[in-house]
Amino acid sequence: MAETVGPIITIDGPAGVGKSTISRKVAARYGYTYLDTGAMYRAVAWYLVQYGIDIDNIADVESVLDDITITLLPAKNEGDDVGVLLNGENISAQIRTPDISMIASTVSALPVVREKLTAMQRQIGAQGCVVAEGRDTGTVVFPEASNKFYLDAKPEARAGRRALQLRERGESVDEEKLLEMTIARDKQDSEREIAPLKKADDAVLVDTTDLSADQVFKAITELID
Ligand code: DC
Repeated sequence: MAETVGPIITIDGPAGVGKSTISRKVAARYGYTYLDTGAMYRAVAWYLVQYGIDIDNIADVESVLDDITITLLPAKNEGDDVGVLLNGENISAQIRTPDISMIASTVSALPVVREKLTAMQRQIGAQGCVVAEGRDTGTVVFPEASNKFYLDAKPEARAGRRALQLRERGESVDEEKLLEMTIARDKQDSEREIAPLKKADDAVLVDTTDLSADQVFKAITELID
């Protein structure tokens, strides 16, 4: 792994646990770059769907990976997700659907995809002063990170938060289906062979079930300070 010139903070955890909100706030607080690694897996998932690539055919997936250039854009407004350009095309909204969430989870189990995206993430991290958010940023991507956090919460609380987010965007929500998908994604993300979702031994566990975003932010920044 490349040596970094400044601190790296990692924030991992399952879907809907509040990682993005917290990571964005922590990055803003210290003036760090916010690295949303999930957005990269979503972008690859979107590309494979868009171009009809069979994700069970590893050779096909591998052959298109070099054609994919991903650029992360800072969020337009406070509270927004980061934007994503894929080969120059703005796919920021397209990658945030429940379907792409699930496909991203499936695609992220493929070693060829992880290899490519982990290398990109380390390249971004090499400049230091980064808040990296994902599933394996503390365990695999940046094992030497200066501060590691693992956020967790009950699936019901996480699905409820996602429902709220989708409703705020004016989308209709089937809460029961969302809970099912959250549990299915947890299972896929934590049971895959490579870089599964898990707490790094040296990460601080924060259970966000009964905490507001401000409370989580305060707890984390107090530890960092
Ligand atoms: O954080 P997210 O919901 O945007 O991530 C989408 C999917 O991408 C997630 O279900 C699993 C995968 N992912 C991953 O495997 N490793 C990461 N570091 C980040 C995301």
